[in-house]
Amino acid sequence: MRVVRFVSLTALTWLLAVSFSVVPSAQTPKTDEDYDKLMKAMGATSGSLRKNLAANATDAVAADAKKLVELAKGNVEFWKARKTADATEWATSSLTHATAIEKAVAGKDVAAANENVKLLMGTCGSCHTKYRDKAADGTYIIKKT
Ligand code: HEC
Repeated sequence: MRVVRFVSLTALTWLLAVSFSVVPSAQTPKTDEDYDKLMKAMGATSGSLRKNLAANATDAVAADAKKLVELAKGNVEFWKARKTADATEWATSSLTHATAIEKAVAGKDVAAANENVKLLMGTCGSCHTKYRDKAADGTYIIKKT
């Protein structure tokens, strides 16, 4: 219930805000709390993208990819500011693949889109293994390294 309440009050506001268009650079995440919102949006958007891609809903995939590119930029900026080289690299790699998905969809290249989705999801896993932790209350936090 705790999670549901959190999602409805905080994450949903964020998701609605980002779903309208591009994330303004003013929303580049700075605090751990900002970052949590970014990651929730990243999870929701990549889930939506994969579902839309499987359903061949090209316009929806294009919109999701555009959103993912903006979220990935925020991810890169966050880790750059925290001077964490490997995380910055994974975030940059996820930006590369999100951009490639956007291009592939624009060119109606489903195979390239699928390939880059796979590569994109790999970058999520690499970073989560090292930097994602679960707090005692079950929520995700940034791992103290
Ligand atoms: C450069 C590092 C990095 C990359 C790349 C990355 N993440 Fe994360 N992610 C994190 C960290 C650190 C956390 C834990 C922080 C938090 O949730 O507050 C996290 C948390 C999450 C959460 C849990 C959010 C919550 O609190 O419920 C989701 C979902 C998520 N990431 C999805 C993704 C997806 C999908 C991708 C790839 C498309 C991705 N992430 C890429 C670092 C990363």
